[in-house]
Amino acid sequence: MSERQLHLNAFLMGVGHHEAAWRHPRTDPSRLDDVRHYANLAVIAERGTFDSVFLADGVQLFGDVRHSIAAGFEPLTLLTALAGATSGIGLIATASTGFSEPFNLARSFASLDHISGGRAGWNIVTTAGDRAAQNFNRDANAEHGERYRRAAEFLDVVTALWDSWEDEALVVDPASGVFADPDKVHEINHRGDFFRVRGPLNATRGPQGHPLLVQAGSSEDGKAFAAAHAEAVFTAQQTFEEGVAFYADLKGRLAAHGRTPDQLVVLPGIVPVLGSTEEEAARLNDELDDLIVPTRAVHQLSELIGFDLTDHPLDERLPPFPPVTRINGAKSRFELVRDLSERDGLTLRQLLRRLGGGRGHQVVTGTPEAIADHIETWFRGGAADGFNIMAPLLPSGLEEFVDHVVPILRRRGLFRTEYTGTTLREHYGLARPRSRYSALSV
Ligand SMILES: Cc1cc2nc3c(=O)[nH]c(=O)nc-3n(C[C@H](O)[C@H](O)[C@H](O)COP(=O)(O)O)c2cc1C
Repeated sequence: MSERQLHLNAFLMGVGHHEAAWRHPRTDPSRLDDVRHYANLAVIAERGTFDSVFLADGVQLFGDVRHSIAAGFEPLTLLTALAGATSGIGLIATASTGFSEPFNLARSFASLDHISGGRAGWNIVTTAGDRAAQNFNRDANAEHGERYRRAAEFLDVVTALWDSWEDEALVVDPASGVFADPDKVHEINHRGDFFRVRGPLNATRGPQGHPLLVQAGSSEDGKAFAAAHAEAVFTAQQTFEEGVAFYADLKGRLAAHGRTPDQLVVLPGIVPVLGSTEEEAARLNDELDDLIVPTRAVHQLSELIGFDLTDHPLDERLPPFPPVTRINGAKSRFELVRDLSERDGLTLRQLLRRLGGGRGHQVVTGTPEAIADHIETWFRGGAADGFNIMAPLLPSGLEEFVDHVVPILRRRGLFRTEYTGTTLREHYGLARPRSRYSALSV
């Protein structure tokens, strides 16, 4: 077995990541509100010894209800159910620093970490767009830089709350009647620009100390935040060269924060469109792209990148994009879409087909051998520590990946055959942090 091992995260989304997945005969959209559908997906990923499953989230109805699956379960609620359906796999959920309070969020993730026996992870996002703000007493979202400043303070408060119970705080001695050592349970007394929080948390320290910290925005502000705080990064990269550059950039920023490259795991997204032959895989890709409803797709794209393309004729080349400095949405996805359309001179219709599979994540079409080759090339070539696997159809795409690609990766010595640890941190090879208050009470 080679020294360095791949990490695989199963990004779960409805009945598949392709935007037309729910219209394809190989999915059953009537199961979208059935928790057993998601439990089945988690069990399949666990059979494949994936490090984790991941649920994305927004705090607004995203897209156009006429043609798209716009609603879904709140992720932490769903992950609690998945914790009961599985025993080894990590459980990661998105939660926004823009539209929640640190106390609530620290409590929810500490609870999930206990409930799952140390398998919780938090994908920290700042949330772009005004639609979300309008659900939370505001007309417009905060400016991009301010969102990230709030996120940094938010995270500091959350981790302080997780630390507010030291590991040794619990005594639980019925004979003496002592439940906990008050010297080891701390008020945090935080007073900052965005939050005032007294603490301590009303949940004890979880098995991992801190649930795993994941980050997913690749803008300048996003990368600076990731270098300082994240332990795993989800990212969308279109080409191998871009993947290598992003990986080197992010790992290169860690030293300035006193961190080493192995303390952050980089996971680009990949949409594997599998077939037993190249032709079969290409056919599936075409079938899915043919089911895209262009008017719906252009709305979703405009929302995703914060640049309105809804009036642009479908068969004309894209207009010049405005400078990214004028975009207050998800800057990194805007740049990815701009670069893709400019590089390949795409019409709007062609762009929609290119993005239909993975919203900017690379779509790789081929046989299990070809997909495994692709993964190995990125992994060995310095573009990835592992992958976010985004099956176009669920459950079939994940099942095929587990049954046909994972065995190849295992045979090549690139991926585990069984779990060697019990916590999500152990799966990703990341240390368990000590409470920042531990030194104070000894
Ligand atoms: C795999 C992946 C998953 C993501 N999941 C979410 C999500 O669940 N919710 C969200 O608001 N943003 C999510 N994002 C981040 C957005 O795409 C976007 O980049 C970010 O919200 C804005 O940050 P930026 O301006 O730094 O790019 C995800 C990104 C990636 C690569």
